[in-house]
Amino acid sequence: MAGPAEIARIRRTGPVNKNQERQLAELLAIYREAELAVAAFYRVCANLCPEDAEFWKSIAAQEEAHAGFFARIQELFAAKPDAFQPGRPFSPVAVLTFIKGVQWNTERALKGELQRTRLIHVARDIENSLLESRFAECVRSEDADFTALMDKLMDETTEHHGIFSKMLAAAE
Ligand SMILES: [Fe+2]
Repeated sequence: MAGPAEIARIRRTGPVNKNQERQLAELLAIYREAELAVAAFYRVCANLCPEDAEFWKSIAAQEEAHAGFFARIQELFAAKPDAFQPGRPFSPVAVLTFIKGVQWNTERALKGELQRTRLIHVARDIENSLLESRFAECVRSEDADFTALMDKLMDETTEHHGIFSKMLAAAE
């Protein structure tokens, strides 16, 4: 049950204050970095797996597009901050830890320490972490462009998770 403070916060329709504005801008920038780190991992997978290089490249291109979504949301937010409100509390540390983990796996892959099945396993876990981070709940907005971008991001991430889960089942 939401307490009175939570209800007041949800009902709040005024402009975001400076602190909230800073937090939302930080959240968008960190998620953009996360998408780019994931794309870089998939680019390395494409190089390591010639038999399905085109598949990895197409997934990497979608992650790069997702980074572009966050850049677009940054523009929307800068143009109309009043249309955005903070939602579920956001932990920058959790996302920064996620990025470090992706970068660590990218380095291991580059050193040849991860075989194909392991790469697919990491990819499945990456998509799962993105789904579980529930980014869409961290920002509230009824802006149509924002909603369309968030829907596409969630749909594609769910799709990626499904593809990697199936590939893993086939590889194991
Ligand atoms: Fe993805």
